[in-house]
Order: sequence, then structure tokens, then C-alpha cells
Amino acid sequence: MAQLPILRYPDPRLHTVARPVADVNERIRQLVDDLIETMYANEGVGLAATQVDVHERVIVMDTSEAHDQPLVLINPEIIERSAELALGEEGCLSVPTIYDKVERHARVTVRALGRDGQPFELQAEGLTSVCVQHEMDHLLGKVFVEYLSNLKRDRIRTKMIKKTRDEQRG
Ligand code: NI
Repeated sequence: MAQLPILRYPDPRLHTVARPVADVNERIRQLVDDLIETMYANEGVGLAATQVDVHERVIVMDTSEAHDQPLVLINPEIIERSAELALGEEGCLSVPTIYDKVERHARVTVRALGRDGQPFELQAEGLTSVCVQHEMDHLLGKVFVEYLSNLKRDRIRTKMIKKTRDEQRG
């Protein structure tokens, strides 16, 4: 396993649309394992392949309290969404230190393939529902700050560019 570097907003590669995984083979399982390691190392609750510059429909999540229940979703598709919406606070490993409220479907049912290539369905609510919608947005090239006002997004963009520059200076 290996930790992978995470793209930071406003890196244009975060706007790439991921393609479906044709075959859940050893390369994909390695990607899954690396995503899980990278997510845990950065204390995230979810990570999409897009964020490590791999543009295939793979996400990993762990919204459990003990962070010991990794969930792998390959080619995820939302098959049911509640009419009810919920406003929740979100953050993103590609936009570190920024948290803001986004409205999402309160509940979603997702069909995906697991690490073993077998299909399964996930009924998500609460944080898991927020997380799966957030991560699936990444696969479409969308970052959560794009739901915020132009003013907020511009401020975040400026802050992230400065943060990256400061870190590179060391
Ligand atoms: Ni994110």
C-alpha cells in the first residue's frame, strides 16, 4: 500500500469527469487499498479517485465512529433519493481547513461494486448520505465549494492558493 498525493482546489484536474471501471482487477484493488490508506492517513471520512488524479469511478469512505469500517464503491450510481433535503457541514481533503454547509438529499440508495467486484446496495442517511453524495460529485468533477456563493468560493480559492504557496516555501 502507498499514500498518494491529494490534488488541492483549485487544481483544474479536480474538474475531470471519471470514467467507469471496466474490470475490477488487481490494478483497481491496489488503487482501492491506496485510497483507503491515504484517507486514513489524512483523517478523512471519504476520498474519490479523482482527488489522487486517477479518473475512474472509485470512491472509499468510512463514516464509522471507530474508523474501522472502510466502504468501497466502484461505479456507484444513486438509484433512489429522498425528496427531503438536509443541510450539513462539509469539508474536503482537497480543500483543507474549509468547512461550510451544503444541502443534500437526506437519504440515498446507491448501487455499486465492492472491492471484490460484486454488486451491492447501500442505503445511506446522515453523514454517510452526505459523504456518498460529496464523493460522487468528485467523480463528476465537482468540488463542494461550487455549491457556495461566488464570493465565498473566490475567497476559498485565494486562501488555498496562498496556503499551497506558503507550504511550498516551507
Ligand atoms: Ni471531497
